[in-house]
Amino acid sequence: MFETLQAQKPDAILALVQMFKDDPRSDKIDLGVGVYKDASGNTPVMRAVKAAEQQLWENETSKSYVALTGDPGFSDAMVKLVLGDAVPRATVSAAATPGGTGAVRQAFELIKLARPDARVFVSNPTWPNHLSILEYLGMEMVPYRYFDNETRGVDFDAMLDDLKTAKAGDVVLLHGCCHNPTGANLTMPQWQEVIAVLQQTGAVPMIDIAYQGFGDGLEADAQATRAVAAALPECLIAASCSKNFGIYRERTGILMMIANGTEAKVAQGTLAFLNRQNFSFPPDHGARLVTMILNDDELRTDWMAEVEAMRVSMLGLREQLATELRQRAGSDRFGFIAQHRGMFSRLGTTPEMVQKLREDHGIYMVGDSRLNIAGLNANSVPLLAEAIVKAGV
Ligand code: LMR
Repeated sequence: MFETLQAQKPDAILALVQMFKDDPRSDKIDLGVGVYKDASGNTPVMRAVKAAEQQLWENETSKSYVALTGDPGFSDAMVKLVLGDAVPRATVSAAATPGGTGAVRQAFELIKLARPDARVFVSNPTWPNHLSILEYLGMEMVPYRYFDNETRGVDFDAMLDDLKTAKAGDVVLLHGCCHNPTGANLTMPQWQEVIAVLQQTGAVPMIDIAYQGFGDGLEADAQATRAVAAALPECLIAASCSKNFGIYRERTGILMMIANGTEAKVAQGTLAFLNRQNFSFPPDHGARLVTMILNDDELRTDWMAEVEAMRVSMLGLREQLATELRQRAGSDRFGFIAQHRGMFSRLGTTPEMVQKLREDHGIYMVGDSRLNIAGLNANSVPLLAEAIVKAGV
């Protein structure tokens, strides 16, 4: 039977990781996959994570199963981190998942289960894996305009126009903060307008929040998600702990489902059912570390300080890159890099130019010209700026 299998297109982001490894040049710069790197190019285990791991190693007495939706303590801690007091806890059902991608997958499965004909509205562009999973599940997607290639900001009027075509029973997928791949984000007043459109159309929001703390701060980055959740009767939230806890390989994420009607009664059981069908129990190790950190004053304070330091470092690199480009290009046309937030900025150039930067300068970014700001350091920023201007971006 396996002769029927067709070669799958490699994931564009992950393929870059291998290409970069295979490049023998010593001055190559990796701005591909969304992984945080410090000034020396390492992705460190965060201090609070190391400390929690040590405590866990000493105190954990069993590796037996926990629960299909994970440890309720993890759900409580994450609901608090993402939603604060925006909605009553009783309206939120939650299930731990293998990473944020697992949460996205489970959310799509849930939508399909509830409404097989639901259309999912996705920003153009969005994280490519959103599209890939939707396609794999055979779900209909409708792109809505988002990125303005001229201003490198959000084409907000076009976005609203497109969202107005959604109907009750459709889902609108939104990035809670730090839009991936563009780095262009809505202001809070713009979020309020999106909320009004969701209220008018009856479409259900689904928020993917994978970079909380990397934009304007842990609280500020959750503000939009909280506003949406508080204003709409139903909402799905897929959150990742990969980036802000630096536990990428532990696969730690959570799907939250907010329901205010009688359906809330079956919500938690539905999430458990979906987990059971797909992987049974979610991974526990990363989730336990997150719970320990969020519930311990000392660990939490240290973790927050480290997330903030990462955020500030990325902001500094943005400022430096925008300044270096301004000096070299003699114009402010790259000013958007300092305005964008999160790990990524989309340069807004062609795939050919991206290829040229890779071949001529050893600079690796995703084909849509997304660059990972955290892949830079103070020394590589001038090299990148030089290459961008020289290549004629
Ligand atoms: C990214 O967008 O680079 C990350 O979310 C990693 C991934 O899985 O694609």
